[in-house]
Amino acid sequence: MKISVFGVGYVGLVTGACLADAGHEVMCMDIDPDKIARLQKGEVPIYEPGLDDVVTRNVAAGRLFFTTEPSKAVEFGVLQFIAVGTPPDEDGSADLQYVLNVARLVGQHMTSYKVLIDKSTVPVGTADKVRDAVAAVLAERFPSEADRPAFDVCSNPEFLKEGAAIEDFSKGARIVVGTGSERVRELMSECYAPYNRIRNKLMFMDVRAAELTKYAANSMLATKISFMNEVANLAERLDVDIEQVRQGIGSDPRIGYHFIYPGCGYGGSCFPKDVQALTRTASEVGYDAELLKAVEAVNLRQKQTLFTKLSNALDGDLKGRTIAVWGLSFKPETDDMRDAPSRVLMEALWKAGATVRGYDPVAEDECHRIYGQRDDLQLVDDRMDALKGADALVICTEWTEFRSVDFAAVKAALRFPVIVDGRNVFDPKAVKDAGLMYYGVGRADSLQGH
Ligand code: UDX
Repeated sequence: MKISVFGVGYVGLVTGACLADAGHEVMCMDIDPDKIARLQKGEVPIYEPGLDDVVTRNVAAGRLFFTTEPSKAVEFGVLQFIAVGTPPDEDGSADLQYVLNVARLVGQHMTSYKVLIDKSTVPVGTADKVRDAVAAVLAERFPSEADRPAFDVCSNPEFLKEGAAIEDFSKGARIVVGTGSERVRELMSECYAPYNRIRNKLMFMDVRAAELTKYAANSMLATKISFMNEVANLAERLDVDIEQVRQGIGSDPRIGYHFIYPGCGYGGSCFPKDVQALTRTASEVGYDAELLKAVEAVNLRQKQTLFTKLSNALDGDLKGRTIAVWGLSFKPETDDMRDAPSRVLMEALWKAGATVRGYDPVAEDECHRIYGQRDDLQLVDDRMDALKGADALVICTEWTEFRSVDFAAVKAALRFPVIVDGRNVFDPKAVKDAGLMYYGVGRADSLQGH
Protein backbone atom coordinates (compact mmCIF):
# COMPACT_ATOMS: atom_id res chain seq x y z
CA MET A 1 0.00 0.00 0.00
CA LYS A 2 1.21 3.56 -0.66
CA ILE A 3 1.10 5.88 2.32
CA SER A 4 2.08 9.52 2.88
CA VAL A 5 2.96 11.01 6.24
CA PHE A 6 3.09 14.75 6.92
CA GLY A 7 5.47 15.80 9.68
CA VAL A 8 8.60 13.87 10.63
CA GLY A 9 8.49 14.76 14.30
CA TYR A 10 8.27 12.03 16.83
CA VAL A 11 4.86 10.66 15.88
CA GLY A 12 5.22 11.05 12.11
CA LEU A 13 8.63 9.48 11.89
CA VAL A 14 7.74 6.50 14.05
CA THR A 15 4.50 6.00 12.10
CA GLY A 16 6.19 6.29 8.71
CA ALA A 17 9.14 4.08 9.59
CA CYS A 18 7.00 1.37 11.21
CA LEU A 19 4.49 1.28 8.35
CA ALA A 20 7.38 0.94 5.88
CA ASP A 21 8.80 -1.83 8.04
CA ALA A 22 5.47 -3.63 7.78
CA GLY A 23 5.92 -3.70 4.00
CA HIS A 24 4.12 -0.55 2.87
CA GLU A 25 5.70 2.13 0.70
CA VAL A 26 5.83 5.34 2.69
CA MET A 27 6.70 8.90 1.77
CA CYS A 28 7.30 11.32 4.62
CA MET A 29 7.06 15.05 4.01
CA ASP A 30 8.30 17.89 6.20
CA ILE A 31 8.90 21.57 5.58
CA ASP A 32 12.26 21.47 7.37
CA PRO A 33 14.87 20.82 4.65
CA ASP A 34 17.66 20.05 7.16
CA LYS A 35 15.64 17.33 8.84
CA ILE A 36 14.70 15.78 5.50
CA ALA A 37 18.29 15.91 4.22
CA ARG A 38 19.52 14.17 7.38
CA LEU A 39 16.83 11.51 7.17
CA GLN A 40 17.64 10.83 3.53
CA LYS A 41 21.15 9.99 4.74
CA GLY A 42 19.68 7.72 7.41
CA GLU A 43 20.36 10.11 10.30
CA VAL A 44 17.53 10.16 12.83
CA PRO A 45 17.15 13.58 14.49
CA ILE A 46 15.53 12.26 17.68
CA TYR A 47 16.63 9.73 20.25
CA GLU A 48 14.32 6.74 20.20
CA PRO A 49 15.63 3.22 20.81
CA GLY A 50 15.52 1.11 17.64
CA LEU A 51 14.28 3.88 15.36
CA ASP A 52 17.66 4.36 13.60
CA ASP A 53 17.66 0.73 12.51
CA VAL A 54 14.09 0.79 11.25
CA VAL A 55 14.68 3.99 9.27
CA THR A 56 17.98 2.85 7.79
CA ARG A 57 16.79 -0.57 6.71
CA ASN A 58 13.63 0.76 5.07
CA VAL A 59 15.39 3.59 3.26
CA ALA A 60 17.86 0.97 1.97
CA ALA A 61 15.00 -1.35 0.97
CA GLY A 62 13.44 1.43 -1.10
CA ARG A 63 10.24 1.52 0.94
CA LEU A 64 10.76 4.73 2.92
CA PHE A 65 11.17 8.08 1.17
CA PHE A 66 11.55 11.64 2.40
CA THR A 67 10.62 14.85 0.65
CA THR A 68 10.05 18.55 1.25
CA GLU A 69 7.67 18.79 -1.70
CA PRO A 70 4.00 18.69 -0.68
CA SER A 71 2.83 17.88 -4.21
CA LYS A 72 4.92 14.69 -4.27
CA ALA A 73 3.63 13.56 -0.90
CA VAL A 74 0.00 14.28 -1.77
CA GLU A 75 0.28 12.39 -5.02
CA PHE A 76 2.05 9.41 -3.44
CA GLY A 77 -0.36 7.73 -1.06
CA VAL A 78 -4.05 7.11 -0.89
CA LEU A 79 -3.66 7.41 2.88
CA GLN A 80 -2.43 10.81 4.04
CA PHE A 81 -1.40 10.76 7.69
CA ILE A 82 -1.29 14.16 9.37
CA ALA A 83 1.31 14.00 12.13
CA VAL A 84 2.37 17.63 12.54
CA GLY A 85 2.58 19.44 15.86
CA THR A 86 -0.37 20.79 17.83
CA PRO A 87 1.37 23.04 20.37
CA PRO A 88 -0.76 24.59 23.12
CA ASP A 89 -1.99 28.17 22.65
CA GLU A 90 -1.58 30.61 25.54
CA ASP A 91 -4.96 29.47 26.82
CA GLY A 92 -4.02 25.77 26.75
CA SER A 93 -6.07 24.81 23.70
CA ALA A 94 -4.34 22.94 20.87
CA ASP A 95 -3.11 25.17 18.03
CA LEU A 96 -4.43 23.61 14.83
CA GLN A 97 -2.73 25.85 12.28
CA TYR A 98 -0.20 23.20 11.19
CA VAL A 99 -2.84 20.48 10.88
CA LEU A 100 -5.07 22.75 8.81
CA ASN A 101 -2.11 23.81 6.63
CA VAL A 102 -1.58 20.16 5.72
CA ALA A 103 -5.29 19.79 4.98
CA ARG A 104 -5.08 22.75 2.58
CA LEU A 105 -1.95 21.31 0.91
CA VAL A 106 -3.77 18.05 0.29
CA GLY A 107 -6.70 20.02 -1.14
CA GLN A 108 -4.36 21.99 -3.41
CA HIS A 109 -2.55 19.02 -4.91
CA MET A 110 -4.91 16.04 -4.85
CA THR A 111 -6.19 14.70 -8.16
CA SER A 112 -7.70 11.43 -6.92
CA TYR A 113 -9.43 9.98 -3.82
CA LYS A 114 -7.53 10.53 -0.56
CA VAL A 115 -8.09 9.69 3.09
CA LEU A 116 -6.78 12.34 5.48
CA ILE A 117 -5.95 10.75 8.80
CA ASP A 118 -5.59 12.83 11.95
CA LYS A 119 -2.72 11.16 13.80
CA SER A 120 -1.71 14.19 15.86
CA THR A 121 -3.61 14.62 19.11
CA VAL A 122 -6.38 17.03 18.18
CA PRO A 123 -9.48 18.29 19.97
CA VAL A 124 -12.91 16.85 19.38
CA GLY A 125 -14.30 18.38 16.20
CA THR A 126 -10.98 18.72 14.37
CA ALA A 127 -11.87 16.16 11.70
CA ASP A 128 -14.76 18.45 10.72
CA LYS A 129 -12.38 21.41 10.46
CA VAL A 130 -9.97 19.37 8.32
CA ARG A 131 -12.86 18.35 6.08
CA ASP A 132 -13.98 21.99 5.72
CA ALA A 133 -10.42 23.13 4.92
CA VAL A 134 -9.98 20.54 2.16
CA ALA A 135 -13.46 21.19 0.77
CA ALA A 136 -12.86 24.96 0.63
CA VAL A 137 -9.64 24.55 -1.39
CA LEU A 138 -11.25 22.01 -3.72
CA ALA A 139 -14.18 24.36 -4.30
CA GLU A 140 -11.72 27.05 -5.41
CA ARG A 141 -9.81 24.69 -7.68
CA PHE A 142 -12.88 23.07 -9.21
CA PRO A 143 -15.83 25.43 -9.60
CA SER A 144 -18.01 22.52 -10.67
CA GLU A 145 -18.70 20.08 -7.85
CA ALA A 146 -18.72 17.16 -10.27
CA ASP A 147 -15.00 17.69 -11.04
CA ARG A 148 -13.84 17.59 -7.42
CA PRO A 149 -11.98 14.46 -6.32
CA ALA A 150 -13.56 12.67 -3.36
CA PHE A 151 -11.92 12.44 0.05
CA ASP A 152 -12.61 11.26 3.59
CA VAL A 153 -11.25 12.36 6.95
CA CYS A 154 -10.72 9.96 9.82
CA SER A 155 -9.18 10.01 13.28
CA ASN A 156 -6.48 7.51 14.22
CA PRO A 157 -4.88 8.68 17.47
CA GLU A 158 -1.48 7.41 18.49
CA PHE A 159 -0.75 5.78 21.84
CA LEU A 160 3.04 5.75 21.65
CA LYS A 161 5.23 6.07 24.71
CA GLU A 162 8.52 7.78 24.08
CA GLY A 163 11.35 5.31 24.57
CA ALA A 164 9.11 2.38 23.62
CA ALA A 165 7.47 3.78 20.51
CA ILE A 166 8.49 1.05 18.08
CA GLU A 167 7.14 -1.64 20.34
CA ASP A 168 3.99 0.34 21.10
CA PHE A 169 3.36 0.80 17.39
CA SER A 170 3.61 -2.88 16.59
CA LYS A 171 2.31 -4.34 19.85
CA GLY A 172 -0.09 -1.66 21.09
CA ALA A 173 -3.22 -2.56 23.03
CA ARG A 174 -5.57 -1.19 20.36
CA ILE A 175 -5.75 0.64 17.07
CA VAL A 176 -8.51 3.23 17.27
CA VAL A 177 -10.04 4.47 14.03
CA GLY A 178 -12.84 7.00 14.01
CA THR A 179 -14.79 6.92 10.77
CA GLY A 180 -18.26 6.45 9.41
CA SER A 181 -17.13 5.34 5.97
CA GLU A 182 -16.96 1.75 4.79
CA ARG A 183 -14.25 2.65 2.25
CA VAL A 184 -12.06 4.10 5.00
CA ARG A 185 -12.65 1.01 7.15
CA GLU A 186 -11.35 -1.21 4.37
CA LEU A 187 -8.32 0.95 3.64
CA MET A 188 -7.37 1.32 7.30
CA SER A 189 -7.82 -2.43 7.84
CA GLU A 190 -5.40 -3.04 4.96
CA CYS A 191 -2.94 -0.50 6.35
CA TYR A 192 -2.89 -2.10 9.79
CA ALA A 193 -3.29 -5.74 8.70
CA PRO A 194 0.40 -6.53 9.50
CA TYR A 195 -0.24 -5.55 13.14
CA ASN A 196 -3.59 -7.21 13.41
CA ARG A 197 -2.83 -10.88 12.92
CA ILE A 198 -2.84 -12.36 16.40
CA ARG A 199 -6.01 -10.71 17.64
CA ASN A 200 -8.26 -8.02 16.27
CA LYS A 201 -7.03 -4.76 17.70
CA LEU A 202 -8.85 -2.51 15.31
CA MET A 203 -11.60 -0.55 17.03
CA PHE A 204 -13.80 1.40 14.70
CA MET A 205 -15.87 4.13 16.28
CA ASP A 206 -17.33 7.56 15.62
CA VAL A 207 -14.82 10.21 14.63
CA ARG A 208 -15.52 12.36 17.69
CA ALA A 209 -15.35 9.35 20.01
CA ALA A 210 -11.88 8.50 18.63
CA GLU A 211 -10.75 12.08 19.19
CA LEU A 212 -11.98 12.06 22.78
CA THR A 213 -10.55 8.57 23.43
CA LYS A 214 -7.03 9.92 23.08
CA TYR A 215 -7.56 12.75 25.57
CA ALA A 216 -9.47 10.52 27.96
CA ALA A 217 -6.69 7.91 27.95
CA ASN A 218 -3.92 10.39 28.66
CA SER A 219 -5.94 12.32 31.22
CA MET A 220 -6.84 9.10 33.03
CA LEU A 221 -3.16 8.14 33.25
CA ALA A 222 -2.20 11.64 34.40
CA THR A 223 -4.96 11.44 37.00
CA LYS A 224 -3.52 8.19 38.36
CA ILE A 225 -0.12 9.85 38.74
CA SER A 226 -1.42 13.01 40.39
CA PHE A 227 -3.62 10.94 42.68
CA MET A 228 -0.64 8.89 43.74
CA ASN A 229 1.49 11.98 44.26
CA GLU A 230 -1.21 13.44 46.46
CA VAL A 231 -1.36 10.28 48.56
CA ALA A 232 2.46 10.25 48.71
CA ASN A 233 2.51 13.79 50.08
CA LEU A 234 -0.01 12.73 52.63
CA ALA A 235 2.01 9.60 53.48
CA GLU A 236 5.06 11.76 54.25
CA ARG A 237 3.05 13.73 56.76
CA LEU A 238 1.45 10.63 58.27
CA ASP A 239 4.74 8.77 58.69
CA VAL A 240 3.75 6.09 56.20
CA ASP A 241 5.91 4.53 53.47
CA ILE A 242 4.11 5.05 50.16
CA GLU A 243 5.94 2.08 48.59
CA GLN A 244 4.02 -0.27 50.87
CA VAL A 245 0.77 1.50 50.02
CA ARG A 246 1.56 1.36 46.29
CA GLN A 247 1.91 -2.39 46.47
CA GLY A 248 -1.14 -2.65 48.65
CA ILE A 249 -3.41 -0.88 46.19
CA GLY A 250 -1.73 -2.05 42.96
CA SER A 251 -2.52 -5.65 43.82
CA ASP A 252 -6.21 -4.89 43.33
CA PRO A 253 -6.77 -5.65 39.63
CA ARG A 254 -9.30 -2.81 39.45
CA ILE A 255 -6.46 -0.42 40.28
CA GLY A 256 -3.42 -2.20 38.85
CA TYR A 257 0.28 -1.46 39.18
CA HIS A 258 0.65 0.80 36.16
CA PHE A 259 1.01 4.55 36.52
CA ILE A 260 0.84 4.62 40.29
CA TYR A 261 4.49 5.45 40.84
CA PRO A 262 4.79 8.60 42.90
CA GLY A 263 7.54 10.96 41.82
CA CYS A 264 8.43 14.54 41.03
CA GLY A 265 5.53 14.95 38.62
CA TYR A 266 4.68 13.97 35.07
CA GLY A 267 6.25 15.74 32.12
CA GLY A 268 6.69 15.10 28.42
CA SER A 269 4.93 16.21 25.31
CA CYS A 270 1.56 14.63 26.05
CA PHE A 271 0.22 14.55 29.58
CA PRO A 272 0.64 18.22 30.53
CA LYS A 273 -0.58 19.43 27.14
CA ASP A 274 -3.48 17.00 26.84
CA VAL A 275 -4.84 17.59 30.34
CA GLN A 276 -4.77 21.34 29.66
CA ALA A 277 -6.38 20.96 26.25
CA LEU A 278 -9.20 18.78 27.58
CA THR A 279 -9.82 21.25 30.40
CA ARG A 280 -10.03 23.98 27.80
CA THR A 281 -12.36 21.96 25.56
CA ALA A 282 -14.59 21.39 28.58
CA SER A 283 -14.80 25.10 29.34
CA GLU A 284 -15.62 25.83 25.70
CA VAL A 285 -18.73 23.71 26.01
CA GLY A 286 -19.62 25.31 29.33
CA TYR A 287 -18.35 22.57 31.62
CA ASP A 288 -16.02 23.24 34.52
CA ALA A 289 -13.68 20.21 34.57
CA GLU A 290 -12.74 20.39 38.24
CA LEU A 291 -10.97 17.05 38.42
CA LEU A 292 -8.78 17.79 35.39
CA LYS A 293 -7.83 21.17 36.83
CA ALA A 294 -6.85 19.51 40.09
CA VAL A 295 -4.75 16.90 38.24
CA GLU A 296 -2.79 19.72 36.65
CA ALA A 297 -2.49 21.77 39.85
CA VAL A 298 -1.22 18.78 41.84
CA ASN A 299 1.35 18.09 39.15
CA LEU A 300 2.66 21.66 39.07
CA ARG A 301 3.01 21.60 42.84
CA GLN A 302 4.70 18.21 42.74
CA LYS A 303 7.39 19.48 40.40
CA GLN A 304 8.32 22.07 43.01
CA THR A 305 8.77 19.57 45.84
CA LEU A 306 12.33 18.68 44.79
CA PHE A 307 13.48 22.22 45.37
CA THR A 308 11.56 22.52 48.63
CA LYS A 309 13.04 19.30 50.00
CA LEU A 310 16.54 20.26 48.95
CA SER A 311 16.22 23.74 50.32
CA ASN A 312 14.96 22.46 53.66
CA ALA A 313 17.74 19.90 53.84
CA LEU A 314 20.31 22.65 53.28
CA ASP A 315 18.63 25.03 55.73
CA GLY A 316 17.30 27.26 52.99
CA ASP A 317 20.77 28.32 52.00
CA LEU A 318 21.31 27.68 48.29
CA LYS A 319 23.12 30.77 47.15
CA GLY A 320 26.55 29.90 45.77
CA ARG A 321 25.95 26.18 46.18
CA THR A 322 26.46 23.55 43.48
CA ILE A 323 23.77 20.90 43.14
CA ALA A 324 24.31 17.65 41.24
CA VAL A 325 21.27 16.68 39.17
CA TRP A 326 21.04 13.14 37.78
CA GLY A 327 18.56 12.71 34.94
CA LEU A 328 17.38 15.68 32.90
CA SER A 329 14.91 14.12 30.45
CA PHE A 330 11.23 13.86 31.48
CA LYS A 331 11.63 10.09 31.77
CA PRO A 332 14.26 7.43 30.96
CA GLU A 333 15.15 6.28 27.43
CA THR A 334 14.56 9.65 25.81
CA ASP A 335 16.39 12.96 25.42
CA ASP A 336 13.08 14.84 25.50
CA MET A 337 13.00 17.58 28.13
CA ARG A 338 9.59 19.04 27.34
CA ASP A 339 7.88 19.91 30.64
CA ALA A 340 10.50 17.82 32.47
CA PRO A 341 10.49 18.13 36.28
CA SER A 342 14.27 18.72 36.07
CA ARG A 343 13.57 22.07 34.42
CA VAL A 344 11.44 23.34 37.28
CA LEU A 345 14.19 22.30 39.70
CA MET A 346 17.05 23.82 37.69
CA GLU A 347 15.22 27.09 37.13
CA ALA A 348 14.43 27.35 40.85
CA LEU A 349 18.07 26.61 41.68
CA TRP A 350 19.32 29.31 39.34
CA LYS A 351 16.85 31.77 40.80
CA ALA A 352 18.22 30.95 44.25
CA GLY A 353 21.77 31.59 43.04
CA ALA A 354 22.94 27.97 42.82
CA THR A 355 24.89 26.20 40.08
CA VAL A 356 23.64 22.98 38.46
CA ARG A 357 26.04 20.15 37.72
CA GLY A 358 23.90 17.93 35.55
CA TYR A 359 24.32 14.44 34.18
CA ASP A 360 22.04 12.61 31.78
CA PRO A 361 22.92 9.61 29.61
CA VAL A 362 21.45 11.26 26.47
CA ALA A 363 19.86 14.66 27.14
CA GLU A 364 23.03 16.78 27.43
CA ASP A 365 22.71 18.32 23.95
CA GLU A 366 19.02 18.94 24.40
CA CYS A 367 19.67 20.69 27.71
CA HIS A 368 22.23 23.02 26.07
CA ARG A 369 19.83 23.60 23.20
CA ILE A 370 17.18 24.81 25.66
CA TYR A 371 19.33 26.79 28.07
CA GLY A 372 22.40 27.59 25.97
CA GLN A 373 25.83 27.87 27.57
CA ARG A 374 25.71 29.52 30.97
CA ASP A 375 28.09 29.63 33.90
CA ASP A 376 25.60 28.15 36.32
CA LEU A 377 24.96 25.08 34.15
CA GLN A 378 27.74 22.52 33.97
CA LEU A 379 26.91 19.29 32.17
CA VAL A 380 29.23 16.32 32.58
CA ASP A 381 29.56 12.95 30.85
CA ASP A 382 29.89 10.81 33.92
CA ARG A 383 27.47 10.59 36.81
CA MET A 384 30.23 10.52 39.43
CA ASP A 385 31.83 13.62 37.89
CA ALA A 386 28.59 15.45 38.59
CA LEU A 387 29.17 14.89 42.31
CA LYS A 388 32.69 16.25 42.54
CA GLY A 389 32.53 19.45 44.53
CA ALA A 390 28.72 19.38 44.59
CA ASP A 391 26.84 20.10 47.79
CA ALA A 392 23.98 17.62 47.33
CA LEU A 393 22.47 15.21 44.81
CA VAL A 394 18.96 15.28 43.30
CA ILE A 395 17.54 12.48 41.11
CA CYS A 396 14.97 13.68 38.56
CA THR A 397 14.77 10.70 36.18
CA GLU A 398 14.93 6.99 36.96
CA TRP A 399 17.51 5.92 34.36
CA THR A 400 18.36 2.26 34.95
CA GLU A 401 22.03 3.06 35.56
CA PHE A 402 21.06 5.01 38.69
CA ARG A 403 19.78 1.86 40.31
CA SER A 404 23.21 0.57 41.18
CA VAL A 405 25.20 3.17 43.00
CA ASP A 406 28.18 3.02 45.35
CA PHE A 407 26.76 5.16 48.14
CA ALA A 408 30.05 5.30 49.99
CA ALA A 409 31.60 6.95 46.91
CA VAL A 410 28.65 9.32 46.68
CA LYS A 411 29.09 10.26 50.32
CA ALA A 412 32.81 10.85 49.79
CA ALA A 413 32.20 13.10 46.78
CA LEU A 414 29.42 15.30 48.16
CA ARG A 415 30.07 18.24 50.45
CA PHE A 416 26.84 17.54 52.36
CA PRO A 417 25.44 14.03 52.74
CA VAL A 418 22.09 14.81 51.10
CA ILE A 419 20.22 12.85 48.43
CA VAL A 420 16.82 14.00 47.19
CA ASP A 421 15.37 11.09 45.25
CA GLY A 422 12.55 12.41 43.07
CA ARG A 423 11.77 8.97 41.64
CA ASN A 424 12.18 6.69 44.66
CA VAL A 425 14.98 4.88 42.87
CA PHE A 426 17.01 4.08 45.97
CA ASP A 427 16.44 1.91 48.98
CA PRO A 428 16.30 4.45 51.83
CA LYS A 429 17.99 2.05 54.19
CA ALA A 430 20.99 1.49 51.90
CA VAL A 431 21.40 5.25 51.52
CA LYS A 432 21.20 5.86 55.23
CA ASP A 433 23.53 2.99 56.07
CA ALA A 434 26.16 4.78 54.00
CA GLY A 435 25.74 7.82 56.24
CA LEU A 436 23.71 9.89 53.80
CA MET A 437 20.43 11.68 54.45
CA TYR A 438 17.63 10.46 52.20
CA TYR A 439 14.60 12.42 50.99
CA GLY A 440 12.35 10.40 48.71
CA VAL A 441 8.73 10.94 47.66
CA GLY A 442 6.14 9.75 50.11
CA ARG A 443 8.54 7.76 52.19
CA ALA A 444 8.42 8.15 55.90
CA ASP A 445 12.09 9.09 55.77
CA SER A 446 11.26 12.11 53.67
CA LEU A 447 9.60 13.87 56.55
CA GLN A 448 12.76 15.67 57.47
CA GLY A 449 12.53 17.35 54.12
CA HIS A 450 9.61 19.51 55.18
C1 UDX B 1 2.27 9.15 27.16
C2 UDX B 1 1.30 7.95 27.08
O1 UDX B 1 1.80 6.89 27.91
C3 UDX B 1 1.12 7.51 25.66
O2 UDX B 1 0.16 6.47 25.61
C4 UDX B 1 0.64 8.69 24.84
O3 UDX B 1 0.45 8.35 23.50
C5 UDX B 1 1.62 9.83 24.96
O4 UDX B 1 1.82 10.18 26.32
P1 UDX B 1 4.90 9.52 27.17
O5 UDX B 1 4.59 10.99 27.34
O6 UDX B 1 5.93 9.13 26.19
O7 UDX B 1 3.57 8.72 26.76
O8 UDX B 1 5.38 9.01 28.60
P2 UDX B 1 4.91 8.06 29.79
O9 UDX B 1 5.84 6.90 29.88
O10 UDX B 1 3.49 7.76 29.71
O11 UDX B 1 5.24 9.00 31.04
C6 UDX B 1 4.69 10.28 31.20
C7 UDX B 1 5.19 10.97 32.46
O12 UDX B 1 4.56 10.40 33.60
C8 UDX B 1 6.68 10.85 32.74
O13 UDX B 1 7.19 12.11 33.18
C9 UDX B 1 6.79 9.80 33.83
O14 UDX B 1 7.93 9.97 34.62
C10 UDX B 1 5.53 10.09 34.61
N1 UDX B 1 5.03 8.93 35.38
C11 UDX B 1 4.58 7.82 34.73
C12 UDX B 1 4.96 9.00 36.77
O15 UDX B 1 5.36 10.01 37.38
N2 UDX B 1 4.46 7.92 37.46
C13 UDX B 1 4.01 6.80 36.84
O16 UDX B 1 3.54 5.89 37.54
C14 UDX B 1 4.07 6.76 35.44
